[in-house]
Amino acid sequence: MIIRKDNIFLLQTKNCSYFMQVLPSGHIEHIHYGMSILSERQYEELLKNGNTEILADMAKVLEIKHKNEGGNMVVYAPEYYPMCLEVMPLEMSGFGKGDIREPMVELTFKDGSTTCDFLFENAVISDEITALETLPSSYDDKDKGAVADLQSGATVPAYMADHAMQLVITLKEKSKDVRLKMIYKVYPDCNTITRSSKLINDSKEDVRIDRLLSNQLDFQQTGFKLTSFHGRWADEMGETSSVCNAGKVVNEELAAGESGSRSNPFTMLSMPDTTETAGDCFGFNLVYSGNHYSALSSNGTFLSRFVSGIQPTGFEWLLNPGESFEAPEAVMTYSKKGFGGMSRSMHDFVRKHIVRGEWRDKERPILINNWEATYFNFNQSSLLRIAKEASKAGVELFVLDDGWFGARNDDHAGLGDWVVNTKKLPDGLKGLAEKINALGMKFGLWVEPEMVNENSDLFRKHPEWAVRIPGRDHSVGRTQMILDMSRKEVQDYIIDALSKVFGSANISYIKWDMNRIFSDRFSLELPAERMKEFQHRYYIGLYRVMKTLTTNFPHILFEGCSAGGNRFDLGILSYFPQIWASDDTDAVCRMDIQRGYSYGYPVNTQGAHVSAVPNHQTLHTVPLETRFSVAAFGCFGYELNLGELADEQKKQVADQVEFYKQWRKVFQFGDFYRLDKYRFMVVSKDKSAAVALIFQKESRPNNDYLALKTMGLADDKVYEVANRQVGVNIKAFGSLINTMAPIHVKQDGIIHGIIARHYKMNGEKDEAIATGSMLNGCGVRLNPDYGGTGYGEDTRMFRTNDARLYVFAEVTE
Ligand code: DGJ
Repeated sequence: MIIRKDNIFLLQTKNCSYFMQVLPSGHIEHIHYGMSILSERQYEELLKNGNTEILADMAKVLEIKHKNEGGNMVVYAPEYYPMCLEVMPLEMSGFGKGDIREPMVELTFKDGSTTCDFLFENAVISDEITALETLPSSYDDKDKGAVADLQSGATVPAYMADHAMQLVITLKEKSKDVRLKMIYKVYPDCNTITRSSKLINDSKEDVRIDRLLSNQLDFQQTGFKLTSFHGRWADEMGETSSVCNAGKVVNEELAAGESGSRSNPFTMLSMPDTTETAGDCFGFNLVYSGNHYSALSSNGTFLSRFVSGIQPTGFEWLLNPGESFEAPEAVMTYSKKGFGGMSRSMHDFVRKHIVRGEWRDKERPILINNWEATYFNFNQSSLLRIAKEASKAGVELFVLDDGWFGARNDDHAGLGDWVVNTKKLPDGLKGLAEKINALGMKFGLWVEPEMVNENSDLFRKHPEWAVRIPGRDHSVGRTQMILDMSRKEVQDYIIDALSKVFGSANISYIKWDMNRIFSDRFSLELPAERMKEFQHRYYIGLYRVMKTLTTNFPHILFEGCSAGGNRFDLGILSYFPQIWASDDTDAVCRMDIQRGYSYGYPVNTQGAHVSAVPNHQTLHTVPLETRFSVAAFGCFGYELNLGELADEQKKQVADQVEFYKQWRKVFQFGDFYRLDKYRFMVVSKDKSAAVALIFQKESRPNNDYLALKTMGLADDKVYEVANRQVGVNIKAFGSLINTMAPIHVKQDGIIHGIIARHYKMNGEKDEAIATGSMLNGCGVRLNPDYGGTGYGEDTRMFRTNDARLYVFAEVTE
């Protein structure tokens, strides 16, 4: 809901409010963002009768009481004495009129002056959510189905009668004919408000944009904790926090040119005592894939400011008369129910208002990818062997990764030449796809369209398309160069080449990779004074290509990838419903990586696969059940040579596939809870079913105390709880076999092997029936772990790095 009383605006969602007013000077005071200032009853009444009188009283309570000129501050203007912008909480700030804090906008005018003073001109509220023209943005399809309707049975709360709305406030620079549009979109069902800004040059002179951020939030308090997620290739999303009492805390991608594993754009603000379930928590993100910047600064006493948008370092944009420039959309959500509450709102927002197209609400297929099984060393027969084995296990999609095109036998050649290598695949993509389809599976393919190798036909034909500075050495990454996506002809080439590939066979899935960061930024088409526009223009071009291809091939499920999770962001998710989360497939590392993503991104956006052991990135050996349990909390698949598994493991895989299909809806569309650092849970929207994961980080003997305390179950529903039973191989007991065996058995010897083949242990079975309130409040006490003194049918084999899944099904009779 968005309502206006004269110059006061309230943006309201299910349980948060965003409140602002236009001051007599024309500046916009930011009055409040955070917990709802309306009671549930007031919200309902406002929806019904639209009586907005109440806003004026509320503004009186919360507006800043600034009655005297402050010490050595600059007074804005005599007619508004004693207004000092330095202490005003503002919706946007520029340089030069006394607000000396971090600005949202920095402009340089023709005469070299940098002062800008944007004042209110008009505001338009509408029921239509409009799209940005040059960049991806959130949308609303007016279908409450995906999120709200699933809460069937509940009394319909006010927010469900509400709908998405948009507010556009236009500001005009006081003495220049330059306008700034601030666009707010309100999504009540998922507590999310977005903001973006657009600068329009209506004057007759050029204006240089030095920065145009998307979001500015002023708080009348300090001491927030900023949490952001950092890492590197194969080690993404490490959680890091800093409290900002004074000065500045920044989360930025400075120059990599992609949103990045080094610093994901998702950022949280909370109070130091906020927990998973209680306390203020704000979640922020950007619908953008390039260099980004988010900063929390504070004057050390009463004020904090959070800003976010395109990274200003290395950025400039020349705005000619009549032109406009759009900043990316910034996303904000708030919860007073801690990190968990914030995450679930963000997940609903991403699933319903960012991800789009046919695959948004569809169950994602279980896939097998050949990368870690073969790397570049494959041919049609070896691929089909893997596919046959996968199809026997019930896998639904076969994905052919890197190496199927051009002279691509390793990572030194071929990128850019999107023509099938018939030496490896004599029947072409069409023939291979037909054979895969005949096995009952869909066929998918890997591409890396933004790149070119020097050793490729494309580079030999169009060396000018590669990003490099004429006359200077350039640096490569993974021996490849980046194509200049800011050029229309390059975009058109990629659209054309990929359309031919996508149309050449029955292709149901595409993995779109991008394996290096930027260096030597330059475009032959840009004049010197516009060279700092390159990085942003690259993304405008890339988004055009992504939009065209996803629109023209709506049935294809696209998965983003950038050497794993190096470009995991809402810009990519606006076109591709899922992203390969990390090149690290070790389940132990993945627990941390996927937990990191879970703060800002839903489970069904994160690609996660079961791979071989020892793991190829860590040489770590983790049980198959653990690899499965962790990957099940993602877009699930396998990435190993299934044919090379022992028969017992093949059976386990088939069993995992069957289990996942049974619970897939809950995994992919349920509400996600972090029960603790090593326990996840998903609960279906109607709360009739749930799955929980317990991961054993480190086993200790003599542990009878394990309990599973849930979150999110319906208090008054009754659930049947059961563990996923996992067979135990007797070899896991090592030489302890001799405490039972009548003869001495040599560990790992022939007899040990024979016993292991014939003597099967089913593993423990935990079962219980309990109400949701009991499970949420006390939990269920589980069977004891193996603890060094004995083993029976009720003992859980729970070694370091073991994992167990528990399912909850509502008992309806
Ligand atoms: C990096 C990706 O993250 C991997 O999964 C794989 O597709 C390789 N690129 C292929 O080159």
